[in-house]
Amino acid sequence: MTSHHISELEHTLAQLNLPEDIAIRAWQEQDFPAIQRLSEAKGWPTPSRRPEDALAGWRNSWPTLVAEADGEVIGFVRAWSDKHITTYIFELLIVEQWRGRGVGSSLLDACHALYPRARLEVSSTEHSSSFYRRYGFRDLGLTHRKSYV
Ligand SMILES: CC(C)(COP(=O)(O)OP(=O)(O)OC[C@H]1O[C@@H](n2cnc3c(N)ncnc32)[C@H](O)[C@@H]1OP(=O)(O)O)[C@@H](O)C(=O)NCCC(=O)NCCS
Repeated sequence: MTSHHISELEHTLAQLNLPEDIAIRAWQEQDFPAIQRLSEAKGWPTPSRRPEDALAGWRNSWPTLVAEADGEVIGFVRAWSDKHITTYIFELLIVEQWRGRGVGSSLLDACHALYPRARLEVSSTEHSSSFYRRYGFRDLGLTHRKSYV
């Protein structure tokens, strides 16, 4: 992430209508323990089991945003964008107590508003597919994955 990314983000966020009690900002390395904690609680083990790889993955991704309330990280999105064709959402997660209050949608809004010509793509979990449909995603069917580690 560069200073150009940060100024793009500030410019973008200023145009969005975000929930009043949360702030969205670019992630920082000190957010990583919170990202690990939230992921582990959701049953996504990679950030805790493979912390160095996960940290490298965060460093190499953009947009990588956190939502904060009262100084606490309450959600995050890690995505990657070619800025013109596709923004791919790798992970989107909101802590349980904060769900249903527009935080997840706001993080997606920010990813979209940063690069408005790029389509959003995501591989959803069964639990979240209705959220994505509600947001306007079309269901394209199956995800394929082959792991090497
Ligand atoms: C899916 C998730 C990111 C949604 O975040 P959120 O902050 O709760 O979503 P929002 O509050 O922005 O919801 C927007 C709308 O979708 C609805 N919605 C939220 N989660 C939903 C779900 N799982 N199923 C159906 N509708 C859902 C909300 O009620 C809201 O509807 P409204 O606009 O009519 O009020 C969050 O529930 C989550 O972190 N889930 C666990 C992790 C996960 O599955 N992530 C996605 C895989 S990458």
